[in-house]
Amino acid sequence: MTIDLFKKFDPILRDYNNLPAGEANPFTVSMEKILSPTTAIINGRETILAGTNNYLGMTFNPECLAAAQEALNHEGTGTTGSRVLNGTYNSHKQLEETLKKFYDVRHAIVFSTGYQANLGVISTLVGSRDYVVIDADSHASIYDGCAMGNATTVRFKHNDPENLDRRLTRIRKSDPEAGILVVLEGVYSMLGDQAPLKELTRISRGHNACILVDEAHSVGVFGESGRGATQAQGVEDQVDFIVGTFSKSIGTIGGYCVSNHPKFEALRLVCRPYIFTASLPPSVVASATKALELISNSNLRRKLLNNSLKLNTGLDHAGFNMGTTGESPIAAIIVDDQDMAIAFWGGMIREGVYVNLALPPATPNRLNLMRCSLSAAHSFEQIDFMLEKFIAVGNQLGILRKIAKLA
Ligand SMILES: Cc1ncc(COP(=O)(O)O)c(C=O)c1O
Repeated sequence: MTIDLFKKFDPILRDYNNLPAGEANPFTVSMEKILSPTTAIINGRETILAGTNNYLGMTFNPECLAAAQEALNHEGTGTTGSRVLNGTYNSHKQLEETLKKFYDVRHAIVFSTGYQANLGVISTLVGSRDYVVIDADSHASIYDGCAMGNATTVRFKHNDPENLDRRLTRIRKSDPEAGILVVLEGVYSMLGDQAPLKELTRISRGHNACILVDEAHSVGVFGESGRGATQAQGVEDQVDFIVGTFSKSIGTIGGYCVSNHPKFEALRLVCRPYIFTASLPPSVVASATKALELISNSNLRRKLLNNSLKLNTGLDHAGFNMGTTGESPIAAIIVDDQDMAIAFWGGMIREGVYVNLALPPATPNRLNLMRCSLSAAHSFEQIDFMLEKFIAVGNQLGILRKIAKLA
């Protein structure tokens, strides 16, 4: 008799099968019709999308759409090949030139997703005699990049410079010559908090470590020209590698890494997640290139952060237990237990608001989160609607903390 390879998933399947059926099941939701960057038909009803990571609303930008359509018509639906074989078109090179200009750096490499960018860059840069030092709350793609490589992985406490210093001191004591790569994120995706990059980069440099910052949730969102948290915090000259994605503020799909390292182009010869996969389709390349040209516009960023502040402040004043402060476009309500979080999610979808249900192990400290990611394309009216529905469902579930009424 063959051994059932799926047996190990029985406990997960049991939990999954206990979820509410029909429209209240967060894992079976589908967008029946997309109406705009902020609205869709879900369960037959017009719904406000409050959890898309579409920070600048670029998915329907007319210039991006036109560029994508033109490329689709002239270059076809896909490249059917790797970047190192038939999959490098002039447009891929132009996208890399646009990234270089955007970041004002010498080198840029485009990957097929941000996940693959982290997987590839981290697993390739650090070898068996090296160390990769990561924040405990790092994204799965960073953990997987470490798992795929041969270096020793060391974690430090989330956003804790003193703990990073201790970890690096210990590594240096045992191996003064070791190569070390410290991996940070500009903004952490679940709770939207920024890394204290000034302190973390100063400490890393003090131990002669290289630094990579993943700006997935901060490119287009922070910095004078939208280059992210490294630009906003004035540490671009301290950082060796920036990884980013086109799947959030850029409004399409794809990933990249930029750097001034003189040997950076070697990655094209040795980085397996770059080599052994097909390159991005021309339409995606064209819309990403156009979006990168547009996102320096600071009005979008101002609107986005105003929207975020309005939602975060409104939820906090209503008495929700907030995990976020409004400093980034992410607003997350902490809910005590998983069943309550699932019920909350179901209540919101029935009221016409889609948010992300974020559960352990994807969350820091095993938190159950109702996570919103705002867009510059949300109107204040839509945010008022979200607030009204959050308060109505929160009241039904009895999870609003009592607010002392000031006279
Ligand atoms: C911090 C971080 N890095 C990388 C990624 C991967 O991005 P992509 O969607 O392009 O694979 C994500 C996506 O959620 C992310 O949040």
